[in-house]
Amino acid sequence: MKNVVLLGFMGTGKSIIGRRLAVELQYRFIDTDHLIEERTGKKIPEIFSEEGEAYFRSLESETVAEIASLRGYVISTGGGVALNALNLERLEKQGILVCLIARPEVILRRVQRRSGQRPLLKDSDPLKKIKTLLSEREVAYNRARIKVDTSDIPIKKSVQRILKQISTLIGEQV
Ligand code: S3P
Repeated sequence: MKNVVLLGFMGTGKSIIGRRLAVELQYRFIDTDHLIEERTGKKIPEIFSEEGEAYFRSLESETVAEIASLRGYVISTGGGVALNALNLERLEKQGILVCLIARPEVILRRVQRRSGQRPLLKDSDPLKKIKTLLSEREVAYNRARIKVDTSDIPIKKSVQRILKQISTLIGEQV
């Protein structure tokens, strides 16, 4: 049973959609950021400010290495997981990569609802920062063949679209 791995930028809905998707598929759900927070006993912004981004990325890669071999999981990843080719290679071994996308303005609106949670967007011009990061990450996110734009549709519909696109791949043996 393959995993379903959700990639994509902050604010594209990976966690909420991932949870619902797991219910539909009767899979378990795991989220890389939550695992890191659980294990370190620290929130992501705290890790960034106290230890720096590079340290966070190493925790992230360790976490990916550990969970990539699970089966029957929906795995929601932090927005930067896709930047490391080794992370993707590991997740791809027994996972279907699905990238969630959204327009920069929509991302900004969503992340502002929970301000202070995204250290990388602490910027005087967060919209510009989002656009810059998106263009830097485009190639990495494109590694996922399946893409769903969550900008203008409710969560339920995003889940349905993912289910439809993965339906032929999900039962494949790995
Ligand atoms: C990050 C995304 C965040 C979190 C960290 C870095 C990124 O996760 O891992 O703040 O580099 O895009 P979400 O995508 O769940 O917000």
